Amino acid sequence: MNLEPKPMALSLPSSHRRLLRPFAGVALSPPPIWFMRQAGRHLPEYRALRAKAASFFDLCYTPGLAAEATLQPVRRYGLDAAIVFSDILVVPDALGQEVELVEGKGPRLDPIRTKSDLARLQVDATRTKFGRVFETVARVRRELPNDTSLIGFCGAPWTVATYMVGGEATADQGAARLWARTDPVGFGQLVDRLVEASVEYLAGQVAAGADVLQIFDTWAGALAGEELERWVNAPTKAIVERVKERCPALPIIGFPRGVGAQVTAYAAQTGVDGVGCDATMPLEFIARELSGKTVVQGNLDPALLAAGGVEMERQVAKILAALADRPFIFNLGHGILPQTPPENVAQLVKLVREGK
Ligand code: CP3
Repeated sequence: MNLEPKPMALSLPSSHRRLLRPFAGVALSPPPIWFMRQAGRHLPEYRALRAKAASFFDLCYTPGLAAEATLQPVRRYGLDAAIVFSDILVVPDALGQEVELVEGKGPRLDPIRTKSDLARLQVDATRTKFGRVFETVARVRRELPNDTSLIGFCGAPWTVATYMVGGEATADQGAARLWARTDPVGFGQLVDRLVEASVEYLAGQVAAGADVLQIFDTWAGALAGEELERWVNAPTKAIVERVKERCPALPIIGFPRGVGAQVTAYAAQTGVDGVGCDATMPLEFIARELSGKTVVQGNLDPALLAAGGVEMERQVAKILAALADRPFIFNLGHGILPQTPPENVAQLVKLVREGK
């Protein structure tokens, strides 16, 4: 028998990870904290790393560089979670609809708008590119402190489809909404394929070491009523069910940005374990309708973080007073803005940890 004491990092069970506690029904004080888009351009060390890669997607597909980008914000701010450095557009890229990130302009894709365009997408083709992201996850897990969680993610089928159909970021998601209205069967086939690829993408990240998942639905607020149920809630539910068949105890957070009061239907219909709230959602509404029923995550306005100062302090105090007595994760209402001074982020972490 080997009587050597195991190193601390291995003997701590993962339930010591602070991010997992709210999902066990615990209202931690101070709450766990991480930020959407915590890696990226607001960090000078990210900009230096990015300059070493030929393109943004090269960075995503080079595990050594992507792991470093993942770890940078955790090292700097001591957050409770890392989020794997990748992108929601890795899924269309891996399916065969190549994506390019044009400097200063955003993503560009050759649009998919008809049923016959769907032949370009092959779920079997995703293995190589997904495999590189899984390698990043495994590397990060080896380097992270044991008590820090590692979040895996994907874009929700609806949001990813808005880029695949639009060919770029669109102001009103018009191209995808039009296809969904004129040919719901064809559009549904695209969504089905995204469900399938997303399940593989998420389950592979879990197998490689992710202990929490988040599904980003940045453009969920473009839909309402039956359309929201059909293209946001139902595909998200399908992903959640299928991932949970393979990884039963794994917490999944949904982020249906901009859905307002429809968030209660989203939480009930999708089966997610936690809901990311954007900054437009009133705290009283969140406290009344979501807190205690699901894990709430959010919701400081990223512009308030970029501005900093006493207004930010006041809003942090309001959020904590309204939400932190029930299972809660502190986050922003959307991603960190590139203009954000890193000092403001460090100060925000300090404020939340001191309970102010
Ligand atoms: O810390 C992290 O969150 C890193 C991983 C991450 C990225 N994108 C890296 C990235 C995550 C979780 C995302 C999610 C993502 N990507 C979303 C959902 C969240 C949101 O912000 O709404 C969306 C809609 C995308 C699609 C996307 N990726 C766009 C529209 C753009 C260009 C505009 C922009 O925000 O920069 C990207 C590029 C991108 N993804 C960058 C990073 C760090 C910037 C790349 C660079 O210029 O170096």
